Amino acid sequence: MKILSRYTPLQIAVHLYAWSALAWIAVEMLTGSFSINPIQELEQRTGRHAITLLMLSLLCTPLNTLFKWAEPLKRRRTLGLYAFMYATIHVIIFVDLDYGLAWSLIFRTVFEKPYIIVGTLTFLMLIPLAVTSFDVWKIRLGKNWKRLHKTVYLIAPLAVLHYAWSKKGDFFSLSGDIFRPLIYGLILLIFLALRIPAVRKYLASLPTRSLLLFPKKSQQPKADVS
Ligand code: HEM
Repeated sequence: MKILSRYTPLQIAVHLYAWSALAWIAVEMLTGSFSINPIQELEQRTGRHAITLLMLSLLCTPLNTLFKWAEPLKRRRTLGLYAFMYATIHVIIFVDLDYGLAWSLIFRTVFEKPYIIVGTLTFLMLIPLAVTSFDVWKIRLGKNWKRLHKTVYLIAPLAVLHYAWSKKGDFFSLSGDIFRPLIYGLILLIFLALRIPAVRKYLASLPTRSLLLFPKKSQQPKADVS
């Protein structure tokens, strides 16, 4: 229990959520209730968990701007690294389980299928972010660290495009199995809108909405005793 008290509830929630996908897969495999198409199922689940964790990492800044809640900013790196971990597992499943490390076939597929080119680009762009996410690189890169890490706002739309395209989806004609990718796309649009300096400034100037969520002890609403 002493260990638990060292972590905040949010920290625990982040780790539990991140590992939940692998844990669930393990449970289903052990109980024999996993999909009849296990490789595709593994590819899809790890891909979805990777993109969800990436989006959650992008949610941290708006949570701070909107509710003046600073803790999510400390969890951004963990969420981003978990997103990278799942993206790596997703890619390993693709090259190993799906294509049996047949590199010439893998390269041909990558260049034949546009959504895989986009996925590959997304993954390659995530690598420098994951590698430089540690404090030592923050110090070494100085101002360039922030510039580099802002590319996540390019990476996330690419990931959403990869998702939609893998479902043969088209955002314009709303064809294909587009519902979930569309939701991710809309949430991402909101995140991007919240990056616009004028929007940020306006939100930051709003009265202390944080009090609703995280009331200070002296300002906590009194229990209704009537
Ligand atoms: C080298 C890089 C990548 C390759 C080769 C790749 C390959 C694939 C393939 C083959 C599928 C289709 C699976 C199927 O429906 O049969 C897929 C789907 C998907 N991928 Fe990737 N991917 C890559 C990178 C990424 C990255 C970096 C992300 C997220 C950050 C991602 C997220 C997804 C998602 C969300 C899906 C759809 C899952 C679903 O159908 O529910 N992929 N990917």
